[in-house]
Amino acid sequence: MKTVNEFKKLKSQSKKISMVTCYDYWSAKIIDESDIDAVLVGDSAAMVMHGFETTINAEIEMMCYHTAAVKRGLKNKLLISDLPFLSNRKGISFLMESIDKLMKAGAQAVKIEGADDNLELIQYVINSGIPVMGHIGLTPQFVHQFGGYKLQGKDEKAAEKFLDDAKKLEDAGCFAIVLEMMPSELSAKITKELSIPTIGIGAGPFTDGQILVLQDLLGMSKDFQPKFLRKYLNGFELILNSLNKFNDDVKNQNYPNKEESY
Ligand code: KIV
Repeated sequence: MKTVNEFKKLKSQSKKISMVTCYDYWSAKIIDESDIDAVLVGDSAAMVMHGFETTINAEIEMMCYHTAAVKRGLKNKLLISDLPFLSNRKGISFLMESIDKLMKAGAQAVKIEGADDNLELIQYVINSGIPVMGHIGLTPQFVHQFGGYKLQGKDEKAAEKFLDDAKKLEDAGCFAIVLEMMPSELSAKITKELSIPTIGIGAGPFTDGQILVLQDLLGMSKDFQPKFLRKYLNGFELILNSLNKFNDDVKNQNYPNKEESY
């Protein structure tokens, strides 16, 4: 998929949407040749690529750096980038300057966490010609308010609020909404009531699409195993074994051999 317009088209055809995060050039090149529909340069880059404990440490410079690297490897897929922590809370000029930098780095759309008083800003951004993806449920930039990475929307009041937020984000003009860590029943209801696609993570099987952090999907961390995560590769072990094999070959003078030498 190359444009945001295709998101709605896929939903109208009842076709599921697959997304992964990406933060670097060589992963982007592999994803570009895959069947994955679209790519997010998530602010999870702060955690996955830089080892911070939350996404709060993502800065616009960091997001632009990763967006530009991904863009160089991604020629055939839609590229969405996250607006980092507080960039929508420091005034409209700060927000627009941040978006300007992200778009010039190669993003075709931006993702903004939360609804409420963001709605007016989101509308302004969309009216400026920038496609916006919403994000509700467990919005990681609110982690300290939530008291951890916990399932959201469990009681009726919270569920109603998320449904209302989703409708308002659709009305504001978002082209899709990420639903993170909420009961399947709630994400199913939101998905049914919206005409724009929902992309789930830890939100069950009934959303219009799914997104996973690339390194999670590839099993790069041996300890990180939330219930929702299916690991499609044991990346940690495969890489560890390859490194140890190289080390053995070097130490045992098995590498390089004659064919590998000039
Ligand atoms: O930053 C991120 O990786 C995200 C997705 C997991 C939705 O926001």
